[in-house]
Amino acid sequence: MPKSMNADGQGLAAVSDASPAEVVGVYDDWVSTYDTDVQSWGYEVPDRLASVVAAAGATNGDVLDAGCGTGLVGRALDAVGVASVIGADFSPESINVAKQRDVYRELHVLDLSQPLPFTSQRFLAVVSGGVFSYLTEPEAVLREFLRIVRHGGPIVFTQRVKLWESRQMDAVLQRLAEQGRCTVDVSPPRPYLPGHSEFDDGVHDVTLIAT
Ligand SMILES: C[S@@+](CC[C@H](N)C(=O)[O-])C[C@H]1O[C@@H](n2cnc3c(N)ncnc32)[C@H](O)[C@@H]1O
Repeated sequence: MPKSMNADGQGLAAVSDASPAEVVGVYDDWVSTYDTDVQSWGYEVPDRLASVVAAAGATNGDVLDAGCGTGLVGRALDAVGVASVIGADFSPESINVAKQRDVYRELHVLDLSQPLPFTSQRFLAVVSGGVFSYLTEPEAVLREFLRIVRHGGPIVFTQRVKLWESRQMDAVLQRLAEQGRCTVDVSPPRPYLPGHSEFDDGVHDVTLIAT
């Protein structure tokens, strides 16, 4: 576990206020126990988001796992039958672990806050589980996701309930909908890491459909 957390994982929530370089450091340092730690805290986001992709029928082509980390979402996408999972994350150590999972067709070390090196409308869907807590400019990121996903394709992501207001998620999503870029569906609060005391707020699962 990284130095910024104690043995119970206390300190993890504060990482959403850290600089990008610090976030990379936390996730690089955490790779050896990340999967077992989040599993012990009841992390079910990967299966939940993958089921949205499957229900939308977005399986027969490229799907981007944005902020793939060690590959838990990629594994869930593979399990629901996605033909080609592409992963991206700015933690090189996490990408190395994801590579060993053998479910990704491509893996990219990149910063999701920057313009993405993908052609427009390449992806059938974009999935991002547990990542938007670190993205301080969510509107710019979502506009890039809307550029690279096909019309009718889902963009499925989580955002913590506690960060919803400070990241101005209602205003961001309303602007995108009013500009005719997508439809928006926001779930009621759902579990994120129910066994971790810093995350009792849960997350909203957000599904945008590109128009
Ligand atoms: C809580 S982990 C989630 C990983 C994976 N999606 C999962 O569900 O297990 C957050 C991930 O987001 C990545 N991340 C955070 N900010 C990022 C950014 N700006 N660009 C790329 N990756 C980022 C971190 O490196 C980390 O792997």
